[in-house]
Amino acid sequence: MKNIILIGAQGAGKGTYASLLKVDLDIPHISTGDMFREAIKNQTPVGLEAKKFIDAGNLVPDEVTIKLVDERLKKPDCKKGYMLDGFPRTLPQAQALDRITKINHVIVLDVREDVVLQRLGGRIQCRKCAAIFHLTNLPPKKKGICDKCGGELYTREDDKPEAIRKRLATFHEQSGPLIAFYENKGVVHHADANSPVPREVADEILKLLKA
Ligand code: AP5
Ligand code: MG
Repeated sequence: MKNIILIGAQGAGKGTYASLLKVDLDIPHISTGDMFREAIKNQTPVGLEAKKFIDAGNLVPDEVTIKLVDERLKKPDCKKGYMLDGFPRTLPQAQALDRITKINHVIVLDVREDVVLQRLGGRIQCRKCAAIFHLTNLPPKKKGICDKCGGELYTREDDKPEAIRKRLATFHEQSGPLIAFYENKGVVHHADANSPVPREVADEILKLLKA
């Protein structure tokens, strides 16, 4: 079973590497951030509830997030494994996940603060298919247009400086106990995510998963 969690600061590249690895490993990429953004776009009850937290750079309450993931993991495509990106992010979320499923690998992405600030400062994302680009690191072929589906590229509301600061502070507060929880289970691997070439980081993660 390939039940994998990616843990990393905002801008570490979780979404970028997961979109490469889901093809290599043939498992779904489950990003709670993308699921919330889709719910906000469709103005569902979960989206309306989550929007005020996300735009301000705060975490969505655990009970809302846990329910969303629980429902997603019941879908048939998760039977062959899955890659979780952005969940769990708190100890109660990890404990709830532990009651739902067994995790085989936790990849912790180690990345410097100056690197994440540069990445978040230039990130652009597709409104339609959620593909991730960067103004200078990974520019799209045509300005403002997604290479994959032709959708419009936009800057996320939570990539404004004030929300970035809040999100990074929350990550540093929550990640210690979260990683310790999985270290106790002996499933943690650390990957160096500072390389400016996403494929290199994805290959290092693949190596760790196979070791
Ligand atoms: P979410 O969408 O998960 O945001 P995040 O955790 O803040 O992480 P990011 O998406 O910002 O970073 P990333 O690591 O995916 O980086 P990316 O690949 O885009 O969550 C958003 C919000 O939803 C949260 O703040 C919260 O409110 C809510 N939420 C979600 N999950 C929740 C939960 N479990 N509990 C409660 N609330 C929750 O890369 C960044 C940029 O860098 C891109 O432009 C990319 O092109 C570039 N880049 C990436 N890697 C490289 C590289 N190696 N070299 C050069 N450029 C690179
Ligand atoms: Mg992401």
